[in-house]
Amino acid sequence: MKLGVYPGTFDPITHGHTDIIARSLRVFDRIIVAVAHNPSKRPIFDVAERVEMVKLVTKDFAHVNVEAFDGLLVDYVRRHEAHAVIRGLRATSDFEYEFQMALINRKLDDKVETVFLMPSEEYSYLTSSIIKEVASLGGALKDFVHPEVAERLRHRLRRPIQ
Ligand code: COA
Repeated sequence: MKLGVYPGTFDPITHGHTDIIARSLRVFDRIIVAVAHNPSKRPIFDVAERVEMVKLVTKDFAHVNVEAFDGLLVDYVRRHEAHAVIRGLRATSDFEYEFQMALINRKLDDKVETVFLMPSEEYSYLTSSIIKEVASLGGALKDFVHPEVAERLRHRLRRPIQ
C-alpha cells in the first residue's frame, strides 16, 4: 500500500491541484491531501474552509483523504507512515524552490522522499494567487476552479464574477 502526502496551502484548490491529485492516484494507492495552516501566506479562507473545498472537489475520487496540518511537513509524513511527498512541478521557475524544499525536508528526515509530477500544460500557468486576483477583478473563473469554489471566491471577495 503506497501512501503519498500532497501538501499545500490550497487557498483555494484549483483545477491544477486536482490534476496533480488525479495523476498521483496512478502512482500511489492512497493520497492524503494535507492542507497547511500556513498563516505566513495570509490565506483568505481559513483552514477549515480550505479543507472543506478540497473535500468537495475530490469527493468522486476513491482513496483520497483530506486533512489540515500544522508544523513540519516531515513530522506529518512520518506520523502517517507515508512513502513520499507529492509536489507539482509546473515550470522551470518552480524548480529552484522545490529543489530547496525537497532537500531541506530530506535533511530534516532522510527517509522522506519527494515525488514531482507535471500537471497538464493547460494548468501550468495557474496559481491560487492569480485566481484570487482574477476573482477580485470580476473575471470568469470557470476554467480554473470548481463552480462551488468560484462561488465562495465571489462571496469572499465580494465582486461580481461573469
Ligand atoms: N496547479 C495550480 N497551482 C499550483 C500547483 C498546481 N499543480 N502547484 C502549486 N500551485 C500553486 C499554489 O496554489 C501556490 O499558489 P500561491 O502561492 O498563489 O498560493 C503556489 O503554486 C505554490 O506555493 P508554495 O508556497 O510552493 O506551496 P504551497 O503554498 O501550496 O505549500 C507547503 C507550501 C505547505 C507545502 C510548505 O510551506 C510546507 O511544507 N509547510 C510546512 C512547514 C515545513 O515543513 N517547512 C519546512 C519545509 S520547506
